[in-house]
Amino acid sequence: MVPAMNLEELIHYANLAPSGHNTQPWKFSANDNVIRIYPDFSRRLPVVDPDDHALYISLGCALENLTIAANAKGLDAAVCYFPQDEESECIRVSLSVSGDRRCEDLFIAIPNRQSNRRQYDQKAVPEAHIRTLIAANHCESVQISAFTMADQELETIIDLVKEAARIQFRDREFVAELLSWIRFTRKELNDSQDGLTAEVMGFPFVPRWLGSFILKTFAKPESEASKTEKLLRSSSLLMLFISKGNERRHWVDLGRTFQTVALNATSLGLAHAHLNMPCEVESVRRKLSAFLGLKHDEQPLLTIRFGYAEACPRSPRRPVDEVILPTGTK
Ligand SMILES: Cc1cc2nc3c(=O)[nH]c(=O)nc-3n(C[C@H](O)[C@H](O)[C@H](O)COP(=O)(O)O)c2cc1C
Repeated sequence: MVPAMNLEELIHYANLAPSGHNTQPWKFSANDNVIRIYPDFSRRLPVVDPDDHALYISLGCALENLTIAANAKGLDAAVCYFPQDEESECIRVSLSVSGDRRCEDLFIAIPNRQSNRRQYDQKAVPEAHIRTLIAANHCESVQISAFTMADQELETIIDLVKEAARIQFRDREFVAELLSWIRFTRKELNDSQDGLTAEVMGFPFVPRWLGSFILKTFAKPESEASKTEKLLRSSSLLMLFISKGNERRHWVDLGRTFQTVALNATSLGLAHAHLNMPCEVESVRRKLSAFLGLKHDEQPLLTIRFGYAEACPRSPRRPVDEVILPTGTK
């Protein structure tokens, strides 16, 4: 029997996973030897993620942290996606004692991993490290395409990233949704413990009216496109995470792969950040898929840059007792 304390500790690590706009769209329950991860649809992002694929990717990231933490604590984790015999939609993780401690390097990386939106220093990533990141993918339904700065294809990808950034910042609903998840003041941050804090976005705490005014005035389509290009060109490696299917389980798998790659990158001293714009804007995603020669059901869902940079401020998380459902809930 796995002690209840351990289950709560495992949920603590799952809760440190990344999520789109730091919505933390999950709930957990812990009963006997089973942890269940539930989607929390009250935290969806209807504008940027209308089909919820990013929400399920985030659940996959939480699941990956959970299994890595379990393995490091000497537990086996048997995972079942969306079992039919459950009352609510969930991912079920059944734990048993194996005594064998695994994944300790990745476990240590969990609290250190962060999305780092700074400029990177352009230093090349050693070939061996690129191979390690690609080999970390343990899901058959996920493919990784990697591009270094020397690759010809990168120029087309940069154009598509910029095209999508322009479309997003021309869209008032996109900007309104983004604004609703920015925590402009310390009070907003303390009250919610979620979202994108001013610090993480690279500006000081300011009253909401001022922050909204500044964002609406300065985050123009063209300036956002060039800012994004500059960030990308300061990086050393770009990876596209491609899903070979278009169902919930494929999105969860993609989250697991991304998370394990991000943890490997963290262990290797590499920073990473999302530049998902060409995956989020459907018309651009189609162009990107055609450029990559993908088949009908294959879709690029995450665009991640890697490189070297100093750490940045940490994103908040809600306390574990806010994301755990009352005991007895199944
Ligand atoms: C599915 C998914 C989509 C994301 N999309 C973006 C994005 O488009 N732009 C961005 O800057 N960060 C993006 N992020 C990163 C989150 O904003 C970040 O994980 C969250 O704010 C928590 O911060 P942390 O990763 O440093 O813990 C995404 C993360 C996930 C899991």
